[in-house]
Amino acid sequence: MTTRNLFLLPGDSIGPDAMGEVRKIIAFMNEEMSAGFTTDEGLVGGCAYDAHGAAISEADMQKALSADAVLFGAVGGPKWDDVPYEVRPEAGLLRLRKDLELFANLRPAICYPALAAASSLKPELVEGLDILIIRELTGGVYFGEPKTITDLGNGQKRAIDTQVYDTYEIERISAVAFEMARTRQNRVCSMEKRNVMKSGVLWNQVVTATHKDKYSDVKLEHMLADAGGMQLVRAPKQFDVIVTDNLFGDMLSDVAAMLTGSLGMLPSASLGAPDGKTGKRKALYEPVHGSAPDIAGKGIANPIAMIASFAMCLRYSFAMLKEADNLEKAIANVLDQGTRTADIMSVRAKKVGTLEIGCAILSDLKALSASYST
Ligand code: IPM
Ligand code: MG
Repeated sequence: MTTRNLFLLPGDSIGPDAMGEVRKIIAFMNEEMSAGFTTDEGLVGGCAYDAHGAAISEADMQKALSADAVLFGAVGGPKWDDVPYEVRPEAGLLRLRKDLELFANLRPAICYPALAAASSLKPELVEGLDILIIRELTGGVYFGEPKTITDLGNGQKRAIDTQVYDTYEIERISAVAFEMARTRQNRVCSMEKRNVMKSGVLWNQVVTATHKDKYSDVKLEHMLADAGGMQLVRAPKQFDVIVTDNLFGDMLSDVAAMLTGSLGMLPSASLGAPDGKTGKRKALYEPVHGSAPDIAGKGIANPIAMIASFAMCLRYSFAMLKEADNLEKAIANVLDQGTRTADIMSVRAKKVGTLEIGCAILSDLKALSASYST
């Protein structure tokens, strides 16, 4: 029987609430579909700091490195606002991305028909929205050195972050964007700030060269990242795949998330390069939303982004395409039926908590899966 090793890192705040709903789906798939998932669980973020004095322990890093896929909840909360910078909760997530070399972050922004009214934009602008933001995740200003604050000795301090990209980093992320575009509407829009930044000039050149070299069948467009942000809220449906760097990708994906109705809706997959021998990619799946400490422990968090992240895991780590489709369909069905958590409430909908919406999605998934097994 196939075994599929999952390493679960629920993290802090609403992370464990959302992960609880995924655990039920995993149990169902093991019991009813012999999916063969094994799960191990670790600590990341503030809870890891409390237990080990680090944002993730070495033992948990090893487990993450050897798992087939990592499922990640959320990190952070006011309790850890004053911990040293090196061991702040986010450091655990950044270390996972860097050490697992997860350079390609896929952030789909899909507006479920039932949620068009929950968007901050007019429904006709977002109905049917289906864009994929590909964010470079292991380079740029997040990791560039020097990264320092120095005392200038005259009552002033100087802070430095470094935006740095090498050719190969831009080549590999743009290749992912072009490959993904071929499975969709075959269009890529690359965003940078070549009018101000040298890294933007190189980004633009390398994306253009990669396109010319291997992907000239894909339609490529370039946009300055600020204009891109504006276009995302003006006419978001013009985009198919957007490829951009680590920092711009962080911001633009939050903008895109709001178009879909709530930050609680957006899943993401962070992928490494395929292994030369096995073809397997290291991978981590996480909701785009943060830890939302204000609603932690109240049982009202929206687990959909976490569940949809597990659907991405089924698709990208295990090629369980039918199962991934069914899980996404179950989410859409439950939304159609008018079952909503507080963040996506609308006038005639039924307001439920984390457990209820998780159970509703699971029972829909059971119905959809009844006709076959893996
Ligand atoms: C995200 C988050 C992270 C980031 C934080 C938690 C470090 O905002 O995944 O978008 O900035 O990448
Ligand atoms: Mg972010």
